[in-house]
Order: sequence, then C-alpha cells, then structure tokens
Amino acid sequence: MVHTFDAIIVGAGGAGLYAALEASQKAKVAVLSKLYPQRSHTGAAQGGIGAALGNVEEDSPEWHAFDTVKGGDYLVDQTAAKILAEDAVRAVYDLENRGLPFSRLEDGKIAQRRFGGHTHHFGQGAVHRSCYAADRTGHMILQTLYQQCVKNDVKFYDEFQVADLLLDGTTVRGVVAFELSTGELHVFQAKAVLFATGGFGRMFKITSNAHANTGDGPAILARAGIPMEDMEFYQFHPTGILGMGILITEGVRGEGGILKNRDGEPFMQRYAPTLLDLAPRDMVSRAIMTEVAAGKGVRGDRKIDDYVWLDASHLGREVVEKKIPDIADFCKTYLGVDPAEKPMPVQPTAHYAMGGIPTDVDGRVDTGKVVYDGLYAAGEAACVSVHGANRLGTNSLVDLIVYGRRAGQHIARYVSESGPVSAGEKDAERARQRIEVLRSRKGGRHVGPIMDRMQEVMMEKVGVYRTQEKMDRAVQEIQELRQQFKEVSVQDTGAGFNSEVLQIMELENLLDLSLVTAASAAQRTESRGAHAREDFTERNDDQWLKHTMATITGDSVSIDFKPVDISIWEPKPRTY
Ligand code: FUM
Repeated sequence: MVHTFDAIIVGAGGAGLYAALEASQKAKVAVLSKLYPQRSHTGAAQGGIGAALGNVEEDSPEWHAFDTVKGGDYLVDQTAAKILAEDAVRAVYDLENRGLPFSRLEDGKIAQRRFGGHTHHFGQGAVHRSCYAADRTGHMILQTLYQQCVKNDVKFYDEFQVADLLLDGTTVRGVVAFELSTGELHVFQAKAVLFATGGFGRMFKITSNAHANTGDGPAILARAGIPMEDMEFYQFHPTGILGMGILITEGVRGEGGILKNRDGEPFMQRYAPTLLDLAPRDMVSRAIMTEVAAGKGVRGDRKIDDYVWLDASHLGREVVEKKIPDIADFCKTYLGVDPAEKPMPVQPTAHYAMGGIPTDVDGRVDTGKVVYDGLYAAGEAACVSVHGANRLGTNSLVDLIVYGRRAGQHIARYVSESGPVSAGEKDAERARQRIEVLRSRKGGRHVGPIMDRMQEVMMEKVGVYRTQEKMDRAVQEIQELRQQFKEVSVQDTGAGFNSEVLQIMELENLLDLSLVTAASAAQRTESRGAHAREDFTERNDDQWLKHTMATITGDSVSIDFKPVDISIWEPKPRTY
C-alpha cells in the first residue's frame, strides 16, 4: 500500500509530536509510531523542563546556556545551547497556553525546582529552574501535544514499525513501515521525513529506558551511510531503582533528598562541595561507583548488587505525596519501601544517549560535510549538539520541545518550497526480502540469548568506568554477536502481531548502535563527561575537543571528526 503526505514524522514522543504540530500548520502530516502515542517514552520523564522563568528566584537564559555548556564538559555546540536556553522560556509558555497542567506556586505561577548542574550566576549555587507537573512532566507533555495534533488533523499510524528509509542520493523520498497488526509493508511517500524515535538504552542491562527504546531511527540512518555523532557519550542516571533501573527522578534531590553510603554518610560533599547532590549526573554516578568500589556501598546479594541510599524521609509525607507521588508508588510497588519513611536503594542506570543523528539547529540532518534535503531528526535520536559529553537533567525535555518545534517549522517551509518526490510499491522490496529471509530460515538462533549477551557486554565494558581493554573486547564481542544475528530465524511465521519479527528488527538496530558506541568509545583516549576512562583520567582539549563522527560499513566502523562550536565560552576545568 502506498500513502502520500507532505511530511512523515517517525516517533510520537514529545519531539515528534511538537514537530508534527508545527508542520501541520502548512503541510499534510502523518505520524508513524510503533506504540500508541501516549505510551511513548517521553511519558517516563519525571522531573521537569529547565527554563529560566525566574518564578522562584532570579534566573537568566544565559546562565542556563552556560550551565549546559559546562555540564556537557565543553563538547556542547555553544550557539545551539544558547538557542536551547532562550527558546526554552517561550516553549514552556507555549505548552502552558496549550493546556499543560504545570504544578503551581502559591501566587499561581508555574512552580520550579532545583536540578543537577543548574546554577545561578555561572555556578554560584543551585537555582530553581525546572518547571514541573509533580513527577509526571513528560506524561503531561505527551497528553498536551497529542490532543493538539488531533485537533490539527495530523494523521496517526499507530503500531507501525519503520523498516526502511527511501533516499535518492541526499534527498529523501519517504519511508517503508511494517504494520504490526497485519504484517503488511506500507510505503509512505513524502518530501520530508523526521526521525524522532528516541533513545537506545536497551543496549544496556540496567536501564531506565522502555523496551521500545531500540534506536530504530539512528540505526536505519547509520545503515544508510550517515555518520553518528558523539556516540561514546552515554549517560548513566545516578538513581535507578536497585536491580531494575527504573528512574527515580533527580527531582527527589531537587526537593532536598540526600545520597548516603552504608555508614549513613552524605558522601557527595567529598565529590562536589558546592552543588553536593545536585552536581551533574556524570559526577554523581561516578561518586556512587567510587563509594561502592571503596566498600562503602550497601551490600547486595552479589557484588554487582551493591548500592547506596537515596534518603527523602526527612522531607515529610506531605512533600513526598505532593511532589514525587509516582516515585513513592514505584518504590512501594517494586521495593516495598515507603520513601516518606525509609531511604530508597539506588544504583546508576543507563539513561540517555548524548550522541545520535547529526543535525543543524533546524533539525536538518547535517554531517558537517553533507546536508540531506528533507531529512530531519529531533529529540534523543538526534545530536544537535546541546548535550556534549554529559546532558544536564531536564535538558532532554527542553531539547525535544525546542528542537522538535524548530524542526517542524523548518519542515513546513521546506515542503511548501520543494518539488514533488516519487515512491511506489517496489520501494518496499528491500524490507520485504529481509523479512522473507527470516521467515524462511529454519532452525536458526533465537533473539533472546543474543540480546541478553549484548546488554551484559555493554553494561560491563562500556559502562560508567571504561578501559581500553574492556572497550576493545566489547567491540569484538558485539561483532561476534552481529555474526550470530545473521543466523537468527523466527519461530512464529504468522502475519498478525508477529512480535518476534519486530524484536529481530529491534535487535539488529541495537547491535549496530552498540558497535558504533563501543568503537567510538574505544578511540577517544581521554576522560570527558560521561566517558570516564580509568586509563586516561584527564580531559585533553588539545587532542580531543572535537565531535566524533562514526560511520558503520559492513562489520567495521570508521571514525572522522567535526569541530565543536566554542564561540561564546572558553573551555575551562569543571568544578562544582
Ligand atoms: O531525573 C529525572 O527526572 C530525569 C530527567 C531527565 O533525564 O532530564
């Protein structure tokens, strides 16, 4: 079946929905999502949107931009960070006007809380900058934008998995998608395609990411020969629920929660004397790992289970129930712990990809050498780059509302100015053949063991602390797993809701991105932000103040570089 639209948005999280909403002002737009839109992973974002509204105390977008650059260990493109911080204020008010039910201060203004790495006066102390809706901010963004899209006649194709990208040279023609309920392939012809498919945290064993976060967009573009930017920088959020990785928002620490080791010592004062528990995530995650390695973690059943406490019990029941109600529910449900009474057992959890599809500040895919016509990316799938080597908390939601919206506006202009493209049934052939091979192969390997091993390898060897030996070994093991993947077959040969075919597509995407991540990490011989090496412990601006651009070809990854925009602030050592 062939469908024709001006623009196709792949992914129905915050970035995709905001882009669709903006583009739909002037264009015929469809959103393809492998989920129901309201189940997109944006819904799991808890703590808030950083925007310098100054509702609680003095604040400025300039301080926000500076914090973003410093938090990203100076690998951030500074003009993009400036746009992010300035547009954040406007985007928050736009969402408020569209109906987002923010939590409120006594005077009726949008409530704001403190968050890691967000400071006033260029690092003087923590500032109330995160605009929140209890601990359900992402969920509220999704609801708000989805209802606006429906009102604006955006067409939704729910439970459609993107399977292929149609490119003529560097000009987009559309995508091919797999309809989960029937197994049919659909061709979507469009002048513009935006990938907003989110992150790929499922490459790690312990992660805050939903099962759907398998990097479908970046992997498809990587296989089309587009280099992925800064993939070595993968963020571990300090506070995942022990053993499960489910997020416990940094908002807990923003409200006054404190990390403690097995002796009950609030250990962050030894690592970040000014910001304490509200230091950036890379530093807090490393602090937890260091405490555990020094024998100061709370002892779990196995060494890997060692953890620390996140104590919010001194905040009182009213604060817990009003400001972090979902967290309280999660802890009661999964751990039998009531955070108003007892500390929560936490450990770092794979959370967010700073790297991804390279784009310019209008969401256009731009490798630094080639700009693709009609091809866009936004949200976690993209790398603008505003997060550099380590994203600040709340800046993921800021990124998706600022850059999702900007991409949508550019798409609206682009499709009204560009000529027709053409795509037809025959364009589904490559995707059809891949699925047929899987279906016809007999007695092959199963998805599960390959997925499990990939997650273990990435967690153990490309985790919070890294060494050359571990990363080289990870590259080799992921290459071996990619060979094993070539022998995978499906047990379920049915057409309707064949979740096994979907899982195979997702595993292929994760394996490709794992290889790019491990290979990008193995070549960077310095420590910067979330890329913390035990064998190269210092940041090295002379050699490494540059973006990695990694291209996958067959079984190998080649690396190139792109300059960092440092046009506003000179890189300095990071202290907090
Ligand atoms: O801790 C959190 O609420 C997560 C926020 C984020 O990743 O920005």
